[in-house]
Amino acid sequence: MRTQVAIIGAGPAGLLLGQLLSRAGIDNVILERRSASYVLSRIRAGVLEQGMVDLLHEAGVGERLDREGLVHDGFALAFRGALHRVDLKELSGGKTVTIYGQTEVTHDLIDARQALGRPAIYEAEDVTLHDFNGASPRVTFRANGRTEELHCDFIAGCDGYHGVSRRSVPTDALHVFERVYPFGWLGLLVDRPPAAHELVYANHERGFALCSMRSAGRSRYYIQVPLAERVENWSDDAFFDELRRRLPAAVGDAVMTGPSLEKSIAPLRSFVAEPMRFGRLFLAGDAAHIVPPTGAKGLNLAASDVRYLFDALREHYRDRSDAGLDAYSARALARVWKAERFSWWMTNLLHRFPEKDGFGQRIQQAEFDYLTQSRAAGITIAENYVGLPY
Ligand code: APR
Ligand code: PHB
Repeated sequence: MRTQVAIIGAGPAGLLLGQLLSRAGIDNVILERRSASYVLSRIRAGVLEQGMVDLLHEAGVGERLDREGLVHDGFALAFRGALHRVDLKELSGGKTVTIYGQTEVTHDLIDARQALGRPAIYEAEDVTLHDFNGASPRVTFRANGRTEELHCDFIAGCDGYHGVSRRSVPTDALHVFERVYPFGWLGLLVDRPPAAHELVYANHERGFALCSMRSAGRSRYYIQVPLAERVENWSDDAFFDELRRRLPAAVGDAVMTGPSLEKSIAPLRSFVAEPMRFGRLFLAGDAAHIVPPTGAKGLNLAASDVRYLFDALREHYRDRSDAGLDAYSARALARVWKAERFSWWMTNLLHRFPEKDGFGQRIQQAEFDYLTQSRAAGITIAENYVGLPY
């Protein structure tokens, strides 16, 4: 087999890159370890920056997003019962975010690729990267019981945090930065209208809580839990009781309970692997970096990586220039680190950390007071939340 770009992973990064390349006439093959149904079963955040919305339109998959996406002009912070609305639109000079589940983004991209007649190769086993430091990289894998060899010009490692691409790089060529947080998020999905029309991030002495949504009829809630916590210990009723205790009364009273469609615990980490390029292998999305979900940046960083990588690959094939490819890692990392900073800052602002003297809680209260009293502080949180320029 031969293609121009071999893409490892059919998550948002891999599918979006594949869609953009195909529309630009650049041949590509996507290799995915799991089945399409498994990929679509993943419940992930869906707060889209304008840059990602624009990129999805450029990829030709913006139609359902326009129809079903919820445009939000702001969100609320809750501290010790007080609610403070961050007016994103006013503070960012007119920018907004769009609520549209990652599952829906993935669905639209899978459908679009199917329509191009070039579906991803699912359930590809033992994907192995070869010779990406040379001029003729290739990927071997097993599918339908046969071993295949895919020759290509470039490999895009879009296979997430647990993927094979980053692990294929010699450890002495990688510089890894990591922070693991001493708690997790217990999330619950329920087919009930959301407690508030915008997102509510709550800092409470019992721990963090978040009220989010997937649509006008489907809500997504989270509460901070200890790392050792197990989802089996939480009935739906226990979850809703704890959620309500952490929210201001006006919000808590509006929470509509119902049977959970999904309930799971996710750990929180900040992670960056540098650089994001190794010869003809380019990492994009979670394969190169992870953010705690507090800032809703994971999906949006996958999109900005794809923007930079697609532009660079198109420049290579169309303009016979490698300037974009040579600049990719530094350019992507500059935006990644700003989003890592913001996600780390939001996580420190809103969660209960183990401490002896309450100093951290005083700092959190001072941050909140500063945010509510300073327009400059409001502009800062708003311009980061809607997404810094690409
Ligand atoms: N071979 C082929 N595919 C693989 C392999 C492998 N060895 N390892 C992992 N994969 C696949 C996974 O099954 C997954 O479908 O790569 C895909 C990676 O997708 P994501 O983990 O969703 O990563 P990405 O596309 O970068 O999207 C980032 O996903 O995890 C969330 O919060 C994150 O919203 C962000 C988004
Ligand atoms: C979600 O809806 O899953 C969500 C929203 C905002 C976040 C994190 C998760 O910051």
